[in-house]
Amino acid sequence: MPRPKSLIRQRIVWGGLAVWILLLIACATTSRTMMAPPQIAGAVFIGSGTCTACHADQAQFFDSSSHALLQDEGDPAKFIGCESCHGPGSMHLASFGQVGAIVNPRRSPETCFQCHLDKHGEFHLPNTHPVLTGKVSCADCHDPHRGDAVIAGGTQLASANDTCLECHAAQQGPFVFEHEAVREGCVTCHSHHGSVNPKMLRAANHTLCLQCHFQEQTVDGRLKIGGREHTAYVSRGTCWTTGCHEATHGSQVDSTLRF
Ligand code: HEC
Ligand code: HEC
Ligand code: HEC
Ligand code: HEC
Ligand code: HEC
Ligand code: HEC
Ligand code: HEC
Repeated sequence: MPRPKSLIRQRIVWGGLAVWILLLIACATTSRTMMAPPQIAGAVFIGSGTCTACHADQAQFFDSSSHALLQDEGDPAKFIGCESCHGPGSMHLASFGQVGAIVNPRRSPETCFQCHLDKHGEFHLPNTHPVLTGKVSCADCHDPHRGDAVIAGGTQLASANDTCLECHAAQQGPFVFEHEAVREGCVTCHSHHGSVNPKMLRAANHTLCLQCHFQEQTVDGRLKIGGREHTAYVSRGTCWTTGCHEATHGSQVDSTLRF
Protein backbone atom coordinates (compact mmCIF):
# COMPACT_ATOMS: atom_id res chain seq x y z
CA MET A 1 0.00 0.00 0.00
CA PRO A 2 1.24 3.45 -0.83
CA ARG A 3 2.25 5.66 2.06
CA PRO A 4 2.42 8.21 3.61
CA LYS A 5 -1.21 9.06 4.27
CA SER A 6 -0.84 12.66 3.24
CA LEU A 7 -0.27 11.52 -0.32
CA ILE A 8 -3.78 10.08 -0.66
CA ARG A 9 -5.77 12.02 -3.24
CA GLN A 10 -9.50 11.71 -3.65
CA ARG A 11 -11.87 12.84 -6.36
CA ILE A 12 -15.57 12.56 -6.99
CA VAL A 13 -16.93 12.33 -10.49
CA TRP A 14 -20.65 12.91 -10.98
CA GLY A 15 -22.34 10.92 -13.77
CA GLY A 16 -26.14 11.22 -14.11
CA LEU A 17 -27.73 10.05 -10.87
CA ALA A 18 -24.93 7.66 -10.08
CA VAL A 19 -22.08 8.84 -7.97
CA TRP A 20 -18.77 7.27 -8.85
CA ILE A 21 -16.10 7.62 -6.32
CA LEU A 22 -12.62 7.20 -7.57
CA LEU A 23 -9.98 7.18 -4.95
CA LEU A 24 -6.75 8.08 -6.60
CA ILE A 25 -3.81 6.98 -4.61
CA ALA A 26 -0.66 8.84 -5.47
CA CYS A 27 2.45 6.94 -4.58
CA ALA A 28 5.85 8.30 -3.75
CA THR A 29 6.82 6.56 -7.00
CA THR A 30 5.28 7.33 -10.37
CA SER A 31 2.84 4.40 -10.33
CA ARG A 32 -0.82 5.09 -9.48
CA THR A 33 -3.53 2.70 -8.33
CA MET A 34 -7.18 3.39 -9.09
CA MET A 35 -9.63 2.18 -6.50
CA ALA A 36 -13.41 1.94 -6.38
CA PRO A 37 -15.82 0.92 -3.61
CA PRO A 38 -18.45 -1.76 -4.32
CA GLN A 39 -21.54 -0.77 -6.33
CA ILE A 40 -25.14 -1.74 -5.55
CA ALA A 41 -27.54 -1.35 -8.48
CA GLY A 42 -29.92 1.54 -7.88
CA ALA A 43 -28.35 2.70 -4.60
CA VAL A 44 -26.50 5.96 -3.85
CA PHE A 45 -24.06 6.97 -1.13
CA ILE A 46 -25.56 8.48 2.02
CA GLY A 47 -22.51 8.99 4.27
CA SER A 48 -21.20 7.28 7.42
CA GLY A 49 -23.16 9.56 9.74
CA THR A 50 -26.35 7.82 8.67
CA CYS A 51 -25.05 4.36 9.64
CA THR A 52 -24.07 5.41 13.15
CA ALA A 53 -27.67 5.64 14.34
CA CYS A 54 -28.24 1.90 13.93
CA HIS A 55 -24.69 0.51 14.09
CA ALA A 56 -23.06 2.09 17.14
CA ASP A 57 -20.74 -0.92 17.64
CA GLN A 58 -19.02 -0.56 14.28
CA ALA A 59 -19.08 3.25 14.33
CA GLN A 60 -17.71 3.68 17.86
CA PHE A 61 -13.99 3.51 17.09
CA PHE A 62 -14.17 4.09 13.36
CA ASP A 63 -12.55 7.53 13.57
CA SER A 64 -9.35 5.78 14.70
CA SER A 65 -9.31 3.48 11.68
CA SER A 66 -7.13 3.80 8.60
CA HIS A 67 -10.19 3.38 6.40
CA ALA A 68 -11.91 6.41 7.94
CA LEU A 69 -9.48 8.34 5.74
CA LEU A 70 -11.51 7.23 2.74
CA GLN A 71 -13.66 10.33 2.82
CA ASP A 72 -14.54 13.06 0.44
CA GLU A 73 -15.42 16.68 0.87
CA GLY A 74 -18.48 16.75 -1.37
CA ASP A 75 -22.11 16.14 -0.27
CA PRO A 76 -23.90 13.75 -0.04
CA ALA A 77 -20.93 11.37 -0.03
CA LYS A 78 -19.29 13.22 2.82
CA PHE A 79 -17.59 10.73 5.09
CA ILE A 80 -18.08 7.88 2.69
CA GLY A 81 -15.96 5.68 5.08
CA CYS A 82 -18.44 2.87 5.84
CA GLU A 83 -19.71 2.67 2.30
CA SER A 84 -16.23 2.27 0.84
CA CYS A 85 -16.54 -1.39 1.87
CA HIS A 86 -20.27 -1.87 2.28
CA GLY A 87 -21.38 -0.09 -0.89
CA PRO A 88 -23.90 2.75 -1.19
CA GLY A 89 -26.47 2.53 1.60
CA SER A 90 -29.59 4.34 0.37
CA MET A 91 -31.62 1.20 -0.32
CA HIS A 92 -30.49 -0.43 2.93
CA LEU A 93 -31.65 2.70 4.78
CA ALA A 94 -34.96 2.94 2.92
CA SER A 95 -35.73 -0.68 3.83
CA PHE A 96 -34.79 -0.09 7.49
CA GLY A 97 -31.82 -2.44 7.35
CA GLN A 98 -32.62 -5.08 4.77
CA VAL A 99 -29.56 -7.33 4.70
CA GLY A 100 -29.65 -8.03 0.96
CA ALA A 101 -29.36 -4.29 0.19
CA ILE A 102 -25.86 -3.91 1.60
CA VAL A 103 -22.51 -5.67 1.04
CA ASN A 104 -20.93 -7.74 3.83
CA PRO A 105 -17.23 -8.26 2.98
CA ARG A 106 -16.95 -11.23 5.34
CA ARG A 107 -18.63 -13.34 2.67
CA SER A 108 -16.14 -12.60 -0.09
CA PRO A 109 -12.66 -11.09 -0.28
CA GLU A 110 -13.56 -9.43 -3.60
CA THR A 111 -14.55 -6.19 -1.84
CA CYS A 112 -11.12 -5.90 -0.30
CA PHE A 113 -9.36 -6.90 -3.53
CA GLN A 114 -11.00 -3.99 -5.36
CA CYS A 115 -8.63 -1.65 -3.57
CA HIS A 116 -5.94 -4.05 -2.35
CA LEU A 117 -4.80 -5.35 -5.71
CA ASP A 118 -1.50 -6.55 -4.27
CA LYS A 119 -3.37 -8.83 -1.85
CA HIS A 120 -5.31 -10.27 -4.78
CA GLY A 121 -1.93 -11.31 -6.15
CA GLU A 122 -0.65 -12.71 -2.86
CA PHE A 123 -3.73 -14.88 -2.32
CA HIS A 124 -3.22 -16.42 -5.76
CA LEU A 125 0.28 -17.67 -4.88
CA PRO A 126 0.68 -21.45 -4.48
CA ASN A 127 0.70 -21.38 -0.65
CA THR A 128 -1.87 -19.19 1.06
CA HIS A 129 -4.57 -19.15 3.68
CA PRO A 130 -7.69 -20.65 2.09
CA VAL A 131 -9.41 -17.27 1.68
CA LEU A 132 -10.45 -17.79 -1.94
CA THR A 133 -12.29 -20.99 -1.02
CA GLY A 134 -14.05 -19.19 1.84
CA LYS A 135 -12.59 -21.31 4.67
CA VAL A 136 -10.77 -18.29 6.11
CA SER A 137 -11.93 -14.68 5.74
CA CYS A 138 -9.93 -11.44 5.71
CA ALA A 139 -12.21 -10.59 8.64
CA ASP A 140 -10.77 -13.48 10.73
CA CYS A 141 -7.56 -11.48 11.07
CA HIS A 142 -8.78 -7.95 10.27
CA ASP A 143 -11.31 -5.69 11.92
CA PRO A 144 -11.49 -2.68 9.63
CA HIS A 145 -13.73 -0.83 12.08
CA ARG A 146 -10.87 0.26 14.30
CA GLY A 147 -7.22 1.29 14.34
CA ASP A 148 -4.86 -0.37 11.88
CA ALA A 149 -7.45 -3.09 11.16
CA VAL A 150 -5.24 -5.90 12.49
CA ILE A 151 -7.23 -7.68 15.20
CA ALA A 152 -4.26 -8.05 17.55
CA GLY A 153 -1.00 -6.14 17.86
CA GLY A 154 -0.35 -2.47 17.25
CA THR A 155 -2.82 -0.50 19.28
CA GLN A 156 -4.78 -3.60 20.32
CA LEU A 157 -4.38 -5.23 23.73
CA ALA A 158 -3.57 -8.71 22.48
CA SER A 159 -0.15 -9.39 20.92
CA ALA A 160 0.22 -9.75 17.16
CA ASN A 161 0.79 -13.51 17.52
CA ASP A 162 -2.57 -13.98 19.24
CA THR A 163 -4.36 -13.53 15.92
CA CYS A 164 -2.51 -16.58 14.61
CA LEU A 165 -2.65 -18.66 17.78
CA GLU A 166 -6.43 -18.42 17.75
CA CYS A 167 -6.32 -21.10 15.03
CA HIS A 168 -2.79 -22.53 15.39
CA ALA A 169 -2.69 -23.75 18.98
CA ALA A 170 0.22 -26.14 18.36
CA GLN A 171 2.64 -23.24 17.96
CA GLN A 172 1.52 -21.62 21.19
CA GLY A 173 3.73 -23.21 23.84
CA PRO A 174 4.70 -22.66 26.61
CA PHE A 175 7.90 -24.44 25.65
CA VAL A 176 10.69 -25.47 28.01
CA PHE A 177 13.11 -24.20 25.37
CA GLU A 178 11.56 -21.24 23.66
CA HIS A 179 12.78 -19.92 20.34
CA GLU A 180 13.08 -16.18 20.86
CA ALA A 181 12.30 -15.64 17.18
CA VAL A 182 8.65 -16.48 17.81
CA ARG A 183 8.40 -13.57 20.22
CA GLU A 184 9.40 -11.29 17.34
CA GLY A 185 6.21 -12.44 15.63
CA CYS A 186 5.00 -15.24 13.39
CA VAL A 187 5.28 -12.90 10.43
CA THR A 188 9.09 -12.71 10.70
CA CYS A 189 9.20 -16.17 9.12
CA HIS A 190 5.78 -16.54 7.49
CA SER A 191 4.27 -14.52 4.63
CA HIS A 192 0.81 -15.15 6.02
CA HIS A 193 -1.01 -13.69 2.99
CA GLY A 194 0.74 -16.00 0.57
CA SER A 195 4.10 -17.28 -0.60
CA VAL A 196 5.75 -19.35 -3.30
CA ASN A 197 7.43 -21.37 -0.55
CA PRO A 198 5.87 -24.31 1.32
CA LYS A 199 4.26 -23.46 4.69
CA MET A 200 4.10 -19.84 3.54
CA LEU A 201 7.72 -19.32 4.55
CA ARG A 202 9.49 -16.07 3.68
CA ALA A 203 12.47 -18.03 2.34
CA ALA A 204 12.86 -21.62 1.17
CA ASN A 205 16.33 -22.18 2.63
CA HIS A 206 18.65 -21.15 5.45
CA THR A 207 18.43 -17.44 4.55
CA LEU A 208 15.19 -17.57 6.58
CA CYS A 209 17.25 -18.26 9.70
CA LEU A 210 20.23 -16.10 8.73
CA GLN A 211 17.96 -13.04 9.11
CA CYS A 212 19.05 -13.27 12.75
CA HIS A 213 21.75 -15.96 13.09
CA PHE A 214 25.31 -15.21 12.14
CA GLN A 215 27.12 -17.36 9.58
CA GLU A 216 30.90 -17.43 9.65
CA GLN A 217 33.19 -18.69 6.90
CA THR A 218 36.64 -19.61 8.22
CA VAL A 219 39.80 -19.26 6.08
CA ASP A 220 40.01 -23.02 5.56
CA GLY A 221 36.52 -22.98 4.03
CA ARG A 222 34.59 -24.25 7.03
CA LEU A 223 31.17 -22.89 7.98
CA LYS A 224 30.03 -21.91 11.44
CA ILE A 225 26.50 -20.85 12.42
CA GLY A 226 25.76 -19.63 15.94
CA GLY A 227 29.43 -20.27 16.70
CA ARG A 228 29.14 -23.98 15.96
CA GLU A 229 30.53 -26.17 13.20
CA HIS A 230 27.91 -26.54 10.40
CA THR A 231 29.99 -27.40 7.31
CA ALA A 232 28.59 -30.88 6.81
CA TYR A 233 25.05 -30.02 7.94
CA VAL A 234 24.08 -27.27 5.51
CA SER A 235 24.44 -29.51 2.44
CA ARG A 236 21.84 -31.95 3.84
CA GLY A 237 18.81 -29.71 3.45
CA THR A 238 17.08 -26.83 5.20
CA CYS A 239 17.84 -25.94 8.82
CA TRP A 240 14.41 -27.15 9.94
CA THR A 241 14.33 -30.53 8.20
CA THR A 242 16.67 -33.54 8.09
CA GLY A 243 16.64 -34.01 11.85
CA CYS A 244 18.27 -30.67 12.65
CA HIS A 245 16.03 -27.93 14.10
CA GLU A 246 12.63 -29.50 13.52
CA ALA A 247 11.13 -27.81 16.58
CA THR A 248 11.51 -24.34 15.06
CA HIS A 249 8.70 -22.91 17.19
CA GLY A 250 10.11 -24.19 20.49
CA SER A 251 10.99 -27.49 22.11
CA GLN A 252 10.04 -29.34 25.30
CA VAL A 253 13.18 -31.46 25.31
CA ASP A 254 16.06 -29.98 23.39
CA SER A 255 17.76 -26.58 23.71
CA THR A 256 18.97 -26.69 20.10
CA LEU A 257 15.36 -27.09 18.93
CA ARG A 258 16.07 -30.50 17.44
CA PHE A 259 12.77 -32.17 18.35
C1 HEC B 1 -12.41 -1.57 5.21
C2 HEC B 1 -13.72 -2.13 5.03
C3 HEC B 1 -14.84 -1.75 5.99
C4 HEC B 1 -15.24 -0.49 6.37
C5 HEC B 1 -14.66 0.83 5.93
C6 HEC B 1 -16.38 -0.67 7.24
N1 HEC B 1 -16.65 -2.01 7.38
FE1 HEC B 1 -18.23 -2.82 8.33
N2 HEC B 1 -17.55 -4.70 7.89
C7 HEC B 1 -16.40 -4.97 7.21
C8 HEC B 1 -16.11 -6.39 7.31
C9 HEC B 1 -14.90 -7.11 6.74
C10 HEC B 1 -17.17 -6.96 8.04
C11 HEC B 1 -17.33 -8.41 8.48
C12 HEC B 1 -16.73 -8.48 9.87
C13 HEC B 1 -17.14 -9.61 10.69
O1 HEC B 1 -18.03 -10.36 10.32
O2 HEC B 1 -16.55 -9.74 11.78
C14 HEC B 1 -18.07 -5.87 8.38
C15 HEC B 1 -19.26 -6.03 9.08
C16 HEC B 1 -20.13 -4.99 9.40
C17 HEC B 1 -21.44 -5.16 9.98
C18 HEC B 1 -22.10 -6.49 10.33
C19 HEC B 1 -21.65 -6.91 11.67
C20 HEC B 1 -22.16 -8.25 12.05
O3 HEC B 1 -21.97 -8.59 13.22
O4 HEC B 1 -22.71 -8.98 11.21
C21 HEC B 1 -21.96 -3.91 10.17
C22 HEC B 1 -23.31 -3.57 10.76
C23 HEC B 1 -20.98 -2.96 9.69
N3 HEC B 1 -19.88 -3.65 9.22
C24 HEC B 1 -21.12 -1.58 9.72
C25 HEC B 1 -20.13 -0.68 9.37
C26 HEC B 1 -20.20 0.75 9.64
C27 HEC B 1 -21.35 1.44 10.33
C28 HEC B 1 -19.06 1.29 9.16
C29 HEC B 1 -18.59 2.75 9.24
C30 HEC B 1 -18.61 3.34 10.58
C31 HEC B 1 -18.28 0.22 8.54
N4 HEC B 1 -18.96 -0.96 8.74
C32 HEC B 1 -17.07 0.37 7.87
C33 HEC B 1 -15.62 -4.07 6.53
C34 HEC B 1 -15.72 -2.70 6.64
C1 HEC C 1 -32.46 2.30 10.18
C2 HEC C 1 -31.40 1.54 10.78
C3 HEC C 1 -30.20 1.22 9.91
C4 HEC C 1 -29.38 2.09 9.24
C5 HEC C 1 -29.48 3.61 9.17
C6 HEC C 1 -28.33 1.30 8.66
N1 HEC C 1 -28.52 -0.03 8.96
FE1 HEC C 1 -27.30 -1.56 8.48
N2 HEC C 1 -28.59 -2.90 9.32
C7 HEC C 1 -29.73 -2.54 9.99
C8 HEC C 1 -30.40 -3.76 10.41
C9 HEC C 1 -31.72 -3.83 11.18
C10 HEC C 1 -29.61 -4.84 9.96
C11 HEC C 1 -29.88 -6.32 10.12
C12 HEC C 1 -29.24 -6.77 11.36
C13 HEC C 1 -29.44 -8.24 11.52
O1 HEC C 1 -30.27 -8.84 10.86
O2 HEC C 1 -28.69 -8.78 12.33
C14 HEC C 1 -28.47 -4.26 9.30
C15 HEC C 1 -27.43 -5.00 8.76
C16 HEC C 1 -26.29 -4.44 8.21
C17 HEC C 1 -25.14 -5.19 7.76
C18 HEC C 1 -24.98 -6.70 7.77
C19 HEC C 1 -25.41 -7.23 6.44
C20 HEC C 1 -25.18 -8.73 6.32
O3 HEC C 1 -25.23 -9.20 5.18
O4 HEC C 1 -24.93 -9.40 7.32
C21 HEC C 1 -24.24 -4.29 7.29
C22 HEC C 1 -22.89 -4.60 6.68
C23 HEC C 1 -24.81 -2.97 7.46
N3 HEC C 1 -26.05 -3.11 8.02
C24 HEC C 1 -24.17 -1.79 7.11
C25 HEC C 1 -24.76 -0.55 7.16
C26 HEC C 1 -24.14 0.66 6.64
C27 HEC C 1 -22.78 0.72 5.99
C28 HEC C 1 -25.01 1.68 6.87
C29 HEC C 1 -24.85 3.14 6.45
C30 HEC C 1 -24.67 3.37 5.04
C31 HEC C 1 -26.17 1.10 7.52
N4 HEC C 1 -25.98 -0.25 7.67
C32 HEC C 1 -27.28 1.83 7.94
C33 HEC C 1 -30.21 -1.27 10.22
C34 HEC C 1 -29.66 -0.12 9.70
C1 HEC D 1 -12.25 1.73 -1.18
C2 HEC D 1 -10.94 1.19 -1.05
C3 HEC D 1 -10.65 0.17 0.05
C4 HEC D 1 -11.36 -0.97 0.36
C5 HEC D 1 -12.66 -1.47 -0.27
C6 HEC D 1 -10.60 -1.64 1.40
N1 HEC D 1 -9.48 -0.92 1.72
FE1 HEC D 1 -8.08 -1.41 3.12
N2 HEC D 1 -7.09 0.33 2.75
C7 HEC D 1 -7.41 1.24 1.76
C8 HEC D 1 -6.43 2.33 1.76
C9 HEC D 1 -6.40 3.53 0.83
C10 HEC D 1 -5.50 2.02 2.80
C11 HEC D 1 -4.25 2.80 3.19
C12 HEC D 1 -4.54 3.70 4.33
C13 HEC D 1 -3.24 4.16 4.94
O1 HEC D 1 -2.21 4.08 4.31
O2 HEC D 1 -3.28 4.56 6.10
C14 HEC D 1 -5.94 0.75 3.40
C15 HEC D 1 -5.28 0.12 4.44
C16 HEC D 1 -5.59 -1.16 4.91
C17 HEC D 1 -4.88 -1.87 5.94
C18 HEC D 1 -3.63 -1.36 6.66
C19 HEC D 1 -4.03 -0.43 7.76
C20 HEC D 1 -2.86 0.21 8.45
O3 HEC D 1 -3.12 1.17 9.22
O4 HEC D 1 -1.71 -0.17 8.22
C21 HEC D 1 -5.50 -3.08 6.13
C22 HEC D 1 -5.12 -4.17 7.10
C23 HEC D 1 -6.63 -3.12 5.22
N3 HEC D 1 -6.65 -1.94 4.51
C24 HEC D 1 -7.51 -4.18 5.11
C25 HEC D 1 -8.66 -4.16 4.33
C26 HEC D 1 -9.64 -5.23 4.31
C27 HEC D 1 -9.55 -6.49 5.11
C28 HEC D 1 -10.62 -4.85 3.43
C29 HEC D 1 -11.89 -5.59 3.08
C30 HEC D 1 -12.78 -5.86 4.20
C31 HEC D 1 -10.25 -3.55 2.90
N4 HEC D 1 -9.05 -3.16 3.48
C32 HEC D 1 -10.99 -2.84 1.98
C33 HEC D 1 -8.47 1.16 0.90
C34 HEC D 1 -9.46 0.19 0.90
C1 HEC E 1 -4.24 -15.27 8.61
C2 HEC E 1 -4.56 -13.93 9.00
C3 HEC E 1 -4.78 -12.92 7.89
C4 HEC E 1 -5.62 -13.03 6.81
C5 HEC E 1 -6.54 -14.19 6.44
C6 HEC E 1 -5.51 -11.79 6.09
N1 HEC E 1 -4.60 -10.97 6.71
FE1 HEC E 1 -4.00 -9.12 6.10
N2 HEC E 1 -2.65 -9.01 7.64
C7 HEC E 1 -2.59 -9.92 8.68
C8 HEC E 1 -1.61 -9.45 9.68
C9 HEC E 1 -1.22 -10.17 10.97
C10 HEC E 1 -1.11 -8.21 9.19
C11 HEC E 1 -0.08 -7.31 9.85
C12 HEC E 1 1.28 -7.74 9.33
C13 HEC E 1 2.43 -7.03 9.95
O1 HEC E 1 2.29 -6.45 11.01
O2 HEC E 1 3.49 -7.10 9.32
C14 HEC E 1 -1.81 -7.96 7.91
C15 HEC E 1 -1.59 -6.83 7.12
C16 HEC E 1 -2.43 -6.47 6.04
C17 HEC E 1 -2.33 -5.22 5.30
C18 HEC E 1 -1.37 -4.07 5.57
C19 HEC E 1 0.06 -4.44 5.34
C20 HEC E 1 0.29 -5.00 3.97
O3 HEC E 1 0.73 -6.17 3.90
O4 HEC E 1 0.00 -4.34 2.97
C21 HEC E 1 -3.32 -5.26 4.34
C22 HEC E 1 -3.63 -4.19 3.32
C23 HEC E 1 -4.03 -6.52 4.49
N3 HEC E 1 -3.45 -7.23 5.52
C24 HEC E 1 -5.12 -6.90 3.71
C25 HEC E 1 -5.71 -8.17 3.76
C26 HEC E 1 -6.79 -8.59 2.88
C27 HEC E 1 -7.43 -7.73 1.80
C28 HEC E 1 -7.11 -9.87 3.22
C29 HEC E 1 -8.13 -10.80 2.60
C30 HEC E 1 -8.10 -10.94 1.15
C31 HEC E 1 -6.22 -10.25 4.31
N4 HEC E 1 -5.40 -9.20 4.61
C32 HEC E 1 -6.23 -11.49 4.96
C33 HEC E 1 -3.26 -11.11 8.77
C34 HEC E 1 -4.14 -11.62 7.83
C1 HEC F 1 -9.25 -18.28 11.18
C2 HEC F 1 -8.24 -19.28 11.43
C3 HEC F 1 -6.81 -18.95 11.08
C4 HEC F 1 -6.05 -17.88 11.52
C5 HEC F 1 -6.50 -16.72 12.39
C6 HEC F 1 -4.71 -18.11 11.02
N1 HEC F 1 -4.66 -19.27 10.31
FE1 HEC F 1 -3.02 -20.08 9.44
N2 HEC F 1 -4.17 -21.54 8.62
C7 HEC F 1 -5.54 -21.68 8.78
C8 HEC F 1 -6.03 -22.72 7.89
C9 HEC F 1 -7.48 -23.19 7.78
C10 HEC F 1 -4.90 -23.20 7.16
C11 HEC F 1 -4.87 -24.26 6.08
C12 HEC F 1 -4.62 -25.58 6.69
C13 HEC F 1 -4.62 -26.61 5.63
O1 HEC F 1 -4.58 -26.29 4.44
O2 HEC F 1 -4.61 -27.77 6.04
C14 HEC F 1 -3.75 -22.45 7.66
C15 HEC F 1 -2.45 -22.67 7.25
C16 HEC F 1 -1.33 -22.01 7.76
C17 HEC F 1 0.05 -22.35 7.47
C18 HEC F 1 0.53 -23.43 6.52
C19 HEC F 1 0.38 -24.77 7.16
C20 HEC F 1 0.76 -25.88 6.25
O3 HEC F 1 0.77 -27.01 6.76
O4 HEC F 1 1.06 -25.66 5.07
C21 HEC F 1 0.84 -21.46 8.14
C22 HEC F 1 2.34 -21.39 8.15
C23 HEC F 1 -0.05 -20.54 8.83
N3 HEC F 1 -1.36 -20.92 8.61
C24 HEC F 1 0.37 -19.47 9.57
C25 HEC F 1 -0.50 -18.52 10.13
C26 HEC F 1 -0.07 -17.25 10.69
C27 HEC F 1 1.37 -16.76 10.74
C28 HEC F 1 -1.20 -16.62 11.14
C29 HEC F 1 -1.30 -15.24 11.76
C30 HEC F 1 -0.87 -14.12 10.93
C31 HEC F 1 -2.34 -17.50 10.88
N4 HEC F 1 -1.86 -18.63 10.25
C32 HEC F 1 -3.66 -17.25 11.24
C33 HEC F 1 -6.32 -20.96 9.64
C34 HEC F 1 -5.92 -19.81 10.30
C1 HEC G 1 11.94 -18.72 13.18
C2 HEC G 1 10.99 -18.78 12.11
C3 HEC G 1 9.55 -19.08 12.45
C4 HEC G 1 8.71 -18.36 13.27
C5 HEC G 1 9.02 -17.12 14.06
C6 HEC G 1 7.42 -19.02 13.20
N1 HEC G 1 7.48 -20.09 12.35
FE1 HEC G 1 5.97 -21.34 11.83
N2 HEC G 1 7.23 -22.48 10.73
C7 HEC G 1 8.58 -22.20 10.54
C8 HEC G 1 9.16 -23.24 9.72
C9 HEC G 1 10.62 -23.31 9.28
C10 HEC G 1 8.12 -24.15 9.42
C11 HEC G 1 8.21 -25.42 8.57
C12 HEC G 1 8.42 -26.60 9.45
C13 HEC G 1 8.46 -27.86 8.64
O1 HEC G 1 8.32 -27.82 7.42
O2 HEC G 1 8.59 -28.90 9.29
C14 HEC G 1 6.93 -23.64 10.07
C15 HEC G 1 5.68 -24.26 10.02
C16 HEC G 1 4.51 -23.72 10.54
C17 HEC G 1 3.18 -24.29 10.41
C18 HEC G 1 2.83 -25.58 9.67
C19 HEC G 1 2.77 -26.74 10.63
C20 HEC G 1 4.12 -27.20 11.03
O3 HEC G 1 4.48 -27.10 12.23
O4 HEC G 1 4.86 -27.66 10.15
C21 HEC G 1 2.32 -23.49 11.07
C22 HEC G 1 0.82 -23.68 11.22
C23 HEC G 1 3.10 -22.41 11.63
N3 HEC G 1 4.42 -22.58 11.29
C24 HEC G 1 2.57 -21.38 12.38
C25 HEC G 1 3.34 -20.42 13.05
C26 HEC G 1 2.79 -19.50 14.01
C27 HEC G 1 1.33 -19.42 14.41
C28 HEC G 1 3.83 -18.73 14.46
C29 HEC G 1 3.81 -17.65 15.52
C30 HEC G 1 3.31 -18.05 16.84
C31 HEC G 1 5.03 -19.17 13.76
N4 HEC G 1 4.69 -20.20 12.93
C32 HEC G 1 6.29 -18.61 13.89
C33 HEC G 1 9.27 -21.11 11.01
C34 HEC G 1 8.77 -20.17 11.88
C1 HEC H 1 13.82 -13.04 14.39
C2 HEC H 1 15.14 -13.55 14.64
C3 HEC H 1 15.38 -15.05 14.50
C4 HEC H 1 15.11 -15.84 13.42
C5 HEC H 1 14.49 -15.46 12.10
C6 HEC H 1 15.57 -17.15 13.77
N1 HEC H 1 16.10 -17.15 15.03
FE1 HEC H 1 16.85 -18.75 16.03
N2 HEC H 1 17.14 -17.61 17.69
C7 HEC H 1 16.93 -16.26 17.75
C8 HEC H 1 17.34 -15.78 19.07
C9 HEC H 1 17.27 -14.33 19.55
C10 HEC H 1 17.80 -16.90 19.79
C11 HEC H 1 18.35 -16.95 21.23
C12 HEC H 1 19.75 -16.40 21.26
C13 HEC H 1 20.72 -17.31 20.62
O1 HEC H 1 20.91 -18.42 21.11
O2 HEC H 1 21.30 -16.92 19.57
C14 HEC H 1 17.68 -18.04 18.89
C15 HEC H 1 18.05 -19.34 19.21
C16 HEC H 1 18.07 -20.39 18.32
C17 HEC H 1 18.58 -21.71 18.62
C18 HEC H 1 19.13 -22.18 19.94
C19 HEC H 1 20.59 -21.94 19.96
C20 HEC H 1 21.25 -22.50 21.20
O3 HEC H 1 22.46 -22.64 21.15
O4 HEC H 1 20.58 -22.76 22.19
C21 HEC H 1 18.46 -22.45 17.47
C22 HEC H 1 18.88 -23.89 17.28
C23 HEC H 1 17.86 -21.60 16.47
N3 HEC H 1 17.65 -20.35 17.01
C24 HEC H 1 17.57 -22.00 15.19
C25 HEC H 1 16.92 -21.22 14.24
C26 HEC H 1 16.47 -21.71 12.97
C27 HEC H 1 16.63 -23.12 12.47
C28 HEC H 1 15.89 -20.66 12.33
C29 HEC H 1 15.23 -20.66 10.96
C30 HEC H 1 14.12 -21.56 10.79
C31 HEC H 1 15.97 -19.51 13.22
N4 HEC H 1 16.60 -19.89 14.38
C32 HEC H 1 15.50 -18.25 12.93
C33 HEC H 1 16.41 -15.45 16.77
C34 HEC H 1 16.01 -15.88 15.52
